[in-house]
Amino acid sequence: MGHIIAVLNQKGGVGKTTTVINLAAYLKKMNKSVLVVDIDPQGNATSGLGVNKQLLSITTKELLKGSHTVDKAVLQVNDNIHLIPTDQTLAALEIELVNSGEREFRLKRALERSNYDYIIIDCPPSLSLLTINALTAADSILIPVQTEYYALEGLSQLLEVVQLVRNGLNPNLELLGVLLTMYDGRTILAEQVKAEIVAHFGNKVFDTVVPRNVRLAEAPSYGKTINTYDKWSKGARAYRALAREVHQRVVSG
Ligand SMILES: Nc1ncnc2c1ncn2[C@@H]1O[C@H](COP(=O)(O)OP(=O)(O)OP(=O)(O)O)[C@@H](O)[C@H]1O
Ligand SMILES: [Mg+2]
Repeated sequence: MGHIIAVLNQKGGVGKTTTVINLAAYLKKMNKSVLVVDIDPQGNATSGLGVNKQLLSITTKELLKGSHTVDKAVLQVNDNIHLIPTDQTLAALEIELVNSGEREFRLKRALERSNYDYIIIDCPPSLSLLTINALTAADSILIPVQTEYYALEGLSQLLEVVQLVRNGLNPNLELLGVLLTMYDGRTILAEQVKAEIVAHFGNKVFDTVVPRNVRLAEAPSYGKTINTYDKWSKGARAYRALAREVHQRVVSG
């Protein structure tokens, strides 16, 4: 069985999607089979991996409805990553699901029989039913935190939800790690925020810190991972190191 990682933080714009795409790229470079599941109706992971959202026929929505399997829904995209794409119609499905049976287990059921070394789920910036589906399906969570003044705000709420899920829907859910993103080493603030997060999460904070790097922000507009867009950039180095660290943590359990 492979390992399913939900990348989440209900705060918007902290680097979830950037992490999903580029972690996937470097796990793939390590010869792992990798499936990215986009469960954010914004579809940023879908377009960031070079897929035109206007042309989708089978998406995460069909997967959650149970009308298609992973094998039917999957696209092979850049860097040989596999992707279950999504578009904004997923938002409506979330409302439909609210009154349906096993509504928290839709993603888990859909992924159960798929065979990948890693499945990485890009969550929306909310603690919604879609995110709960990710937490129910996942083995572990990776929380990107933007290295800025309000970084810790909202994290206690996030951890409360994770604890609720552990108490019921998914007792085995683990915190894989907390990832500092958009780190600007020139500022004292960034250092302070880092120290604060380390004080809070201890060795759960990844050694790898993702610097603020414009190449990371440019790559998705070309539909490329950082490895294809600029593999020598600081951002690429960081995500390559992160993939090694993630794999290390997963295999050492
Ligand atoms: N390390 C970085 N350096 C510079 N820009 C970055 C970095 N990481 C992400 N960005 C940019 O910041 C913006 C937000 O990043 P991203 O989309 O990954 O966040 P998100 O948490 O997925 O957002 P949302 O909550 O809307 O889904 C994007 O424009 C992205 O290109
Ligand atoms: Mg995103």
